[in-house]
Amino acid sequence: MGKRVSSASFITFSPAKIVFGYGSSGDVAEEVKLLRGSNCLVVTDPGVVAAGLLSAVEASLTTGGVSFVRYDKVEPEPRSHIIDEGAALYREKRCDVIIGIGGGSSLDVAKGISVLAANEGSILDYVGLNMVPHKGAPMILLPTTAGTGSEVTRGLVMTNEAQHVKCVVFTPYILPEVAVIDPELTVSMPPIVTADTGMDSLVHAIEAFVSTGATPMSDQWARKAIGLIGRYLPVACAKGSNREARYQLCMAALLSGLAFTNAGLGAVHALAYPLGTEYHMTHGRTNAIMLPHVMKFNLAGNPSKYRRIADLLGKDTDGLSDLSGARLSLDAVLDLLAAINVSCVIGDYRIPDSDLDLLVSGAMKQQRLFVPNPRDLSEDDVRSIYLHGFNPNW
Ligand SMILES: [Fe+2]
Repeated sequence: MGKRVSSASFITFSPAKIVFGYGSSGDVAEEVKLLRGSNCLVVTDPGVVAAGLLSAVEASLTTGGVSFVRYDKVEPEPRSHIIDEGAALYREKRCDVIIGIGGGSSLDVAKGISVLAANEGSILDYVGLNMVPHKGAPMILLPTTAGTGSEVTRGLVMTNEAQHVKCVVFTPYILPEVAVIDPELTVSMPPIVTADTGMDSLVHAIEAFVSTGATPMSDQWARKAIGLIGRYLPVACAKGSNREARYQLCMAALLSGLAFTNAGLGAVHALAYPLGTEYHMTHGRTNAIMLPHVMKFNLAGNPSKYRRIADLLGKDTDGLSDLSGARLSLDAVLDLLAAINVSCVIGDYRIPDSDLDLLVSGAMKQQRLFVPNPRDLSEDDVRSIYLHGFNPNW
């Protein structure tokens, strides 16, 4: 009998360089010089400044003789004009490298400014897949949370304030030249931020793993990330100073970011977005809320992979059918949410069920995320998933 040969063809995108480890943010000036930069725009938000998380980066730049201008107007769920204003500052100050430091919003704004450094107009002109004609300014991205994976992804998410909707610029041109992941920057995250961003990361890994666009490489990353998050997220929420847990969760966020930027996301993100735009909840929390409800619906779409998720999260699926094993992945996620004190009942967030139509219409605007989802969704399906979110019946 001949040897079995794997034959799947696939393409993988990633940043040119990933620097990972405690203390790595203190070497940013070297990275700027390798990019032949001398005048950086540091893009961040007021919370990062207040937490003192810029100090290592700015000390490195000062010591290294690199000048910089700070742009710290980034807001949660950033509106498009925040990117446009940052790009105007980049041009006015004649910067040559962008350093994004913060959560997903800061990194996404940095990516948008990079686009506008080489392309005219507003960032809203480039919404969609591969709509950016020219590669933008070089970027170094440093996450301060272990969640979004934005430092390694091809997408940026922003709010179109006029249309009151989340929109995405998706292009390989916004992969950074360098991603610098320093777990030290995440150690001071409070438990609630650790929980929300960690759940975002878990959703990235799970959605990538069950996606119709999954590749052998994205599967490797997703599997590793799921196992790490299941093991270390409760630990980091319970004891934020646990440096091993912080290290492993940064690793998981990186791997899940690489996984989903290559495999795609799914219905959890689609149904989570309206909770973010309508009620100004964090992206991670909205994903955490919707994950088990969407999983319950999705199980039949890829039972063998959901069974594997159950294994990775510590459940014993030996001797079970794929569907029975898959069901245990749901139990594992509910156990994890309980361990980190996160409710997945929509009503617990003061959202009235009379807003159901608003949620359904918001989710239906995210059709692009339905494409890689392992099970097709109709509008009625979306409605029943939200109804389950209001009145869970596990
Ligand atoms: Fe996400």
